[in-house]
Amino acid sequence: MKAKVDQDVCIGCGLCPSIAPEVFEMRDDGKAHVIGDSVPAGSEDAARESVTSCPVDAISVE
Ligand code: F3S
Repeated sequence: MKAKVDQDVCIGCGLCPSIAPEVFEMRDDGKAHVIGDSVPAGSEDAARESVTSCPVDAISVE
């Protein structure tokens, strides 16, 4: 599974790293970024939850 954050849409609310800390991290630009190339095993559910929790729908997974 891969996760993506649309940098143009993220408002830096900080929710996704708190839901899925192994998938997303906040960086100096104040936006969430995906850690690594793919979602680690065991974090898929958290990644999916982030998709539905993001207030601006900036996250997608495939
Ligand atoms: Fe940004 Fe949405 Fe995460 S606004 S910080 S991508 S929950």
